[in-house]
Amino acid sequence: MPEMNLIVLTSVDSTNNYLQQLVNQELAAEGTVVLALEQLKGRGQRGKVWESHPGLGLYCSVLFQPPSWHVEKQFVLNKAVAVGVALYLESRTAADIRIKWPNDLMADGKKIAGVLIENNVRGSFLSSVIAGIGINLNQQVMSDQYETRATSLFLLNRLQYDAETEVQELFRFLWQVYRQLISGEKEWVEAQYMHRLYKQGTRAAFTKEDEVFFGVLESVNDNGQALITTDGITQPYSHPVVRYYASGY
Ligand code: BTN
Repeated sequence: MPEMNLIVLTSVDSTNNYLQQLVNQELAAEGTVVLALEQLKGRGQRGKVWESHPGLGLYCSVLFQPPSWHVEKQFVLNKAVAVGVALYLESRTAADIRIKWPNDLMADGKKIAGVLIENNVRGSFLSSVIAGIGINLNQQVMSDQYETRATSLFLLNRLQYDAETEVQELFRFLWQVYRQLISGEKEWVEAQYMHRLYKQGTRAAFTKEDEVFFGVLESVNDNGQALITTDGITQPYSHPVVRYYASGY
């Protein structure tokens, strides 16, 4: 296991951007973690802003360089990161932790963490993977910016958390899962992901091109597509063309 090489920044635009610049200059090795106490342009999925105020959340980016990892297998890494964050959260709270496809983390049905993965590709292989992770730590009120209702560890446990301490624990879980994956335990990672898949096997509302439809999420394939059954037919759907309907909770 590589040592965590932790870089702590008081303020940055986005930890993903910062780590990408280090990668471009070949200044970052696997296991590098960039933690920022605040982000001025924190990025969420689908171009959204990830609010990143000092003292409220954990904002970090982690560098993985899986050996000879074909791009076709890239989503398995997303699954591994989501599972690592889930294990960390489970070590911190008794709330029911679920992974909402593709890789949002939910605690008792409310979003508590998000993951923004950015891959660098060389030929048909991943040269590096930047996993940006935002965890709600100390928020006492949640702003309405997220399309889902959200929560924080403070709201669950009435305790304050220090991002610099928490990132060490988070890294430990992430690396435990990652190590299993690259040592050939893909099935274990898949099983951990499936076991926590939010609303798996239950009827839920999804949107596709502004239309709402109901279906049952059966599983998530290696390409990251959700297998959803509607009217007895199961089909693969890609995110974000298809996603959970915001008010369908
Ligand atoms: C989501 O929309 O759910 C993903 C949010 C990811 C936020 C994290 S915070 C650290 C890293 N840097 C960013 O700019 N975004 C990610």
